[in-house]
Amino acid sequence: GNNMAAAPTSVVVLDRGNNTTCTINLHGATVVSWRVNNQEQLFVSKQAVFDGKKAIRGGIPFVFPQFGSWNYGPQHGFARIIRWHVEKAPERLPSGDIEAMFCIVDNEVTRSMWNFPFRLSYRLILREKELHFNIGVYNVGKDVTFSFNLLLHTYFKVPDVRRCQITGLQGCTFVDKTRDGAIYQEVRDVVTVNEYTDRVYQNTPQEHIITNVVSNRKMRIQKYNFPDTVVWNPWVEKAREIQDFGDDEYPNMICVEAGHVSAPVILLPGNAFEASEILQVM
Ligand code: BG6
Repeated sequence: GNNMAAAPTSVVVLDRGNNTTCTINLHGATVVSWRVNNQEQLFVSKQAVFDGKKAIRGGIPFVFPQFGSWNYGPQHGFARIIRWHVEKAPERLPSGDIEAMFCIVDNEVTRSMWNFPFRLSYRLILREKELHFNIGVYNVGKDVTFSFNLLLHTYFKVPDVRRCQITGLQGCTFVDKTRDGAIYQEVRDVVTVNEYTDRVYQNTPQEHIITNVVSNRKMRIQKYNFPDTVVWNPWVEKAREIQDFGDDEYPNMICVEAGHVSAPVILLPGNAFEASEILQVM
């Protein structure tokens, strides 16, 4: 038989001290843990697969260059399932915060799905109660324009999703992916999740607050150049359909995802696109 060992899934750890750490799996540059004073902030399924092939179920998968199903490659693109490089190993800044950088450039695999010359860089800074993300997408070609989606598919760990309230969505239009993509307008001042939810909110403000995350704290999301906010929870039936997700895990997660997905980013040759996000435990 073919007895090949599974591809190694190596991780990089940013350690700020006081049991405040952030762990990045180079498979997809997926953030698989963010601990603040030893309290884990991110949800990773007990059934997550770490085989260096499948996308990791939880943490913060990196969605690029496609959000959702894709005719030319896997759902949510290839960035979350290829191995990233360490551009800068974790280093302590004068402020005491820890910085690390990761990158990918086009290669045979990416070009087989998406035939463009690009470079993607991902910078993380771990602060006392914050995690900062800076993303740069570069069109390194001379004459071809390309377009893409970008999204940080963030799974927050929560004691009970039904008790979470998300601010900042009132008045926003949203695509309801649970209802054949119909478009609605949000009327609630805070959004709660009490059923299967898969919504792409459009032109959302820079800030959201999620209440009742771990330790009954609040999580503040600040985003720049990410016009959309996706809210997702698979609930009972969908959870059963997802192989790498436990049947009873849906109450313990909420995905609130900053992205540029409703309209693609169009990037001219030689140009760069930058977006960033800050997560803060309050
Ligand atoms: C969400 C999408 O962002 O990701 C959902 O809006 C999707 O439609 C979910 O089901 C999970 O996707 P995946 O590919 O990781 O199972």
